[in-house]
Amino acid sequence: MNINNTEEIRAKYDKKASSYDMAFGPMEKMMMGKWRKLLCSKANGLVLEAGVGTGANLAHYPENSNIEKVIGIDFSPKMLEVAKGKVLMAKVPIELIEADIQNLHFEEDIFDTIITACVFCSVPDPVLGFKELRRVIKSSGKLYLLEHVRSEGIFLGPLMDKLNALSVKLSGVNINRTTEKNIELSGMKIVSVEPLLRDIVKLITVSPNKQCL
Ligand SMILES: C[S@@+](CC[C@H](N)C(=O)[O-])C[C@H]1O[C@@H](n2cnc3c(N)ncnc32)[C@H](O)[C@@H]1O
Repeated sequence: MNINNTEEIRAKYDKKASSYDMAFGPMEKMMMGKWRKLLCSKANGLVLEAGVGTGANLAHYPENSNIEKVIGIDFSPKMLEVAKGKVLMAKVPIELIEADIQNLHFEEDIFDTIITACVFCSVPDPVLGFKELRRVIKSSGKLYLLEHVRSEGIFLGPLMDKLNALSVKLSGVNINRTTEKNIELSGMKIVSVEPLLRDIVKLITVSPNKQCL
């Protein structure tokens, strides 16, 4: 059984889009807000926010920055519909487009920065997704990923493995993704990893490593 079927994952996000912000409101207030601010402060030039969801990052892109424009993509039209309501709150130009990270219609080497927040837990084929991001980012560009990953803890790691199929079934979220390994499998290079919550939530800075192509 393929628990990471693209159509099924997309349908799950479409289904929860209208209640998504309400469900995650308390967590946003407690901790995500400061992490989003840190994440978005890294952006410059032409920015791709991959898996923009309901647009929770949009208000955090800083004014008076070197950001030319943020293109936010998501494969869930319903999540994008909610994000549209937040475009006016943003301090930088925003464009929202329906697109699948695993199969982008953008040309090669066009983005200066790629941002993701809690996305690679859901991308059905994460290595394929990272390969596509590598294709569309400039050689000089950087990816900044705020992601939750599988814990290396001797109890928590195996527990995440056990509960993963249920989590995907209920929400489309894999709780045991080895995202750093997936980044490396795509050919990119991890520049730094900043742990934000134990060894589970991390800000990962990535270089596309295109000289190796
Ligand atoms: C957990 S939500 C996070 C949304 C947003 N980044 C945030 O921080 O609130 C994951 C998002 O990734 C999107 N997503 C997952 N796989 C995708 C894919 N292959 N292409 C585009 N969007 C994808 C989902 O539709 C969803 O909106």
